[in-house]
Amino acid sequence: MQKEIRKILVTSALPYANGPIHIGHLVEYIQTDIWVRFQKQRGHTCHYVCADDAHGTPIMLRAQQEGITPEQLIADTWTQHNADFSDFNIGFDNFYTTHSDETRHFAELIYNRLHAEKYIHSKVITQAYDPVKEMFLPDRFIKGECPKCGAKDQYGDNCEVCSATYSPNDLVNPFSVISGEKPIEKDSEHYFFKLAEFEAMLKEWTHSGHLQEQVANKLKEWFDVGLQDWDISRDTPYFGFEIPNAPGKFFYVWLDAPVGYMGSFKNLCDREGLDFDEYWGKDSSTELYHFIGKDIVYFHALFWPAMLTGAGFRTPTAIFSHGFLTVNGEKMSKSRGTFIKARTFLDHLNPEYLRYYFAAKLSNRVEDIDLNFEDFSQRVNTDLVNKVVNIASRCSGFIKKRFDGQLSANCSERALFQSFIDESENIATLYETREYGKAMRAISSLADKANQYIDDKQPWVIAKQPDSDEELHHICSLGINLFYVIAGYLKPVVPEMVSKAEAFLNTGELAWPDQFTPLTEHQINKFKPLMTRVDADKLAAVIDASKENLEKTAVKAQPSTATKQTEEIADTIEFDDFAKIDLRVALIEKAEHVEEADKLLRLTLSLGEETRQVLAGIKSAYAPEELEGRLTVMVANLKPRKMRFGTSEGMVLAAGPGGDELWILSPDSGAKPGMRIK
Ligand code: MSP
Ligand code: ZN
Repeated sequence: MQKEIRKILVTSALPYANGPIHIGHLVEYIQTDIWVRFQKQRGHTCHYVCADDAHGTPIMLRAQQEGITPEQLIADTWTQHNADFSDFNIGFDNFYTTHSDETRHFAELIYNRLHAEKYIHSKVITQAYDPVKEMFLPDRFIKGECPKCGAKDQYGDNCEVCSATYSPNDLVNPFSVISGEKPIEKDSEHYFFKLAEFEAMLKEWTHSGHLQEQVANKLKEWFDVGLQDWDISRDTPYFGFEIPNAPGKFFYVWLDAPVGYMGSFKNLCDREGLDFDEYWGKDSSTELYHFIGKDIVYFHALFWPAMLTGAGFRTPTAIFSHGFLTVNGEKMSKSRGTFIKARTFLDHLNPEYLRYYFAAKLSNRVEDIDLNFEDFSQRVNTDLVNKVVNIASRCSGFIKKRFDGQLSANCSERALFQSFIDESENIATLYETREYGKAMRAISSLADKANQYIDDKQPWVIAKQPDSDEELHHICSLGINLFYVIAGYLKPVVPEMVSKAEAFLNTGELAWPDQFTPLTEHQINKFKPLMTRVDADKLAAVIDASKENLEKTAVKAQPSTATKQTEEIADTIEFDDFAKIDLRVALIEKAEHVEEADKLLRLTLSLGEETRQVLAGIKSAYAPEELEGRLTVMVANLKPRKMRFGTSEGMVLAAGPGGDELWILSPDSGAKPGMRIK
């Protein structure tokens, strides 16, 4: 029976053009790419498009900061993103930019149609404005003191110290992050998309199989709150597209971002002679899928289908949303070296390690996934290198040496081979439904089965027996054939490794294995290692290099907060660093008030052989007489510090927030003054 050929258009979210691709992003691009490669391998027509999301205030300001035009910035970023994606074998059919004629065309078209249908209205709103920089300030560009706990330097939407959420108006002593000036309030006319008019359509759409269940449930909450009009305009200066017939007003970046999917596809259509309307027209019978992260569901599951409907285009077949990446159980962190850029990973490790690992961890749910470094090495080494690659390497030597690289004329255990083919629909369904973790387990158990077969047959023993040629030939040929099927199943995940396998097997590009028949009387090529084990040193180098990234950027980007950043960098230290600190048990011989100093006590400390004078800020916590005669712990090799009240020759260790809540450390009884603390 002829299989029906589907026509599918797939997108991944468009990465912002103001920063590098990191391994968090890669969850999405790898997830999508595997799906697309799977569809293509099954013989379907599948187009995969993406683009840089090039507009918005952060990009405009970043360019100014670097002294280049936004066009230059986005061009440079595009080059880097494009190289990162291609080195991770993300096989976009088109990687474009939203700052394009095509995207402008469709953004204007959609806006004009929505306007004509009276889905757009305008009203004057009041917003924070930077009087020095002469621009309106997005929330993220206003900082101040938290209205709840008073913490300084907090953003206009939430407090990182006490987690309170509020609006920028509530900040105490607000200032513009750009100029440092206090923002003023200013009026301006804005354009709004009347989302509420689409409520009925959206309620129906979000509950008819286009979304994952978790996402549909989340949307219910938003419907309960009520759909708000969406502000789609921004005032000049702004890097984006000017709104038709509205001088000085620009489309908000999130209006033209999803339109960028269309723009990129149009660009592909023009290059390859495809029919744009077949994929986007109102009555399109093709399939359209958007892969996105859970943080941008609102834009894709509400605004976007409403915009498309209002402007007379089709809506997506489905939106597939994934969770966020954590590393070793925590949010990616620059200080821990787990904020890993795509490029840093590529500098040291094989990108297909990460593709395989993410595949092994991914499901079709919106759950976060964790990259655990130990688990990472182990899975790649055990599943891919030890199990899969090993099958080929165990059999290929005999075929090459004893049979001139020729596989046997018939397949000895047809049933075993067939049992591998019989898994094809199961594995296909797992890929299709984005249950990659389950797919990897199914493939892995086939690899176990193949290895088991070889273990049972022991070709290395047979090889030494007389007249064993035929049996040896059959066993090894079957082993190679089982590897052939497994390679076919793994192709969407590790295309580069499988392309080496294709060269070894001498087969050309592997199709989906459902129609495979055993390779018989077939010449194979010399086996070269298809993948090596994860090198622990190289993994460590990635983490190390990611730490360095921070030091450089932190100092460059934010000189004012350099100290804060440095504290963060010093998250862990080498033992040698610790060993540099000379910690000693000290006897407090004398403690006295320091005239005029309201925080300090002058301590005379005995280290056995020598005495030191230390000025300690513990006056609010201790009366001098409480201290005299006590043992404590001091840093004995601290560089002497000249203070207004004399020189301090060390430091006493105390715990607590400060003021009267401070407790000096003391050793257990038996310790003697001068003893070194190790
Ligand atoms: N520019 C918007 C998307 C516009 S789509 C019309 C954007 N860009 S982004 O660069 O911040 O993110 C791009 C994609 O990567 C998003 O789908 C986002 O969810 C995903 N991820 C970014 N960081 C991520 C993790 N740490 N983990 C998993 N996915 C992450 O949003
Ligand atoms: Zn707070």
